[in-house]
Amino acid sequence: MRLDKFISKATELSRKEAKKILHAGEVTVNDSVTKDVGLHVDIENDDIVWAGEPLSVATGNRYILLHKPEGFECTLKVKEHPIVTELIAVPELGNLRIAGRLDVDTTGALLISDDGKWLHRVTSPKHEHAKIYELTLADAMDETKQANAVAEVAQGILLEGDHEETKPAVLEFIDATHARLTLEQGKYHQVKRMMGYFGNRVTELHRASVGHITLDGLEKGDSRFLTPEEVAKF
Ligand code: URA
Repeated sequence: MRLDKFISKATELSRKEAKKILHAGEVTVNDSVTKDVGLHVDIENDDIVWAGEPLSVATGNRYILLHKPEGFECTLKVKEHPIVTELIAVPELGNLRIAGRLDVDTTGALLISDDGKWLHRVTSPKHEHAKIYELTLADAMDETKQANAVAEVAQGILLEGDHEETKPAVLEFIDATHARLTLEQGKYHQVKRMMGYFGNRVTELHRASVGHITLDGLEKGDSRFLTPEEVAKF
């Protein structure tokens, strides 16, 4: 946001008055006096101070973490299953959208927001936010099969119908039918298709975390707003 606009939003000053206090050298951005009225400021991270008072504006965006239960669909349209937004207590859905959908039978961490740029930062593989999945397999895998799968997943595998291999990922076996998979991308049905590649089938799937956000005490079906620090860290 332009600095003069930010000041007029954060105070009772008009844009013209905001420019005046800037030209008078009364405003600091990250501890430096700035007179640049058109300076683009990051309203969540920059420290903007006028006459000793830190200035801030409410962004108005909502950032929600939901512990998705099984049986709910990740869509905002009415479908054959109940939809996840029925679980979050917000007065109106507005532009809320889901970052990284989960299948109807998958449980776990789901981030929902109406901040499009933020949603993009959370989901874009470019930003490499790890998602940790815990999975149960239909068929037990012996140690040799486990070691091969771990090595192949670490290299990247070509899933049916895709043109590019999956990004290198970390697969850790807990026992013959339970594993943890850490992914930095989110292709359609990726976990299930990756296990299908090894001739297996996922019977239970849970997303334990997205980036630094874990479910940490949040019961299945419950949701909470993210803190500004949690939002800014993405
Ligand atoms: N991968 C899947 O196969 N399903 C999900 O719900 C999430 C990731």
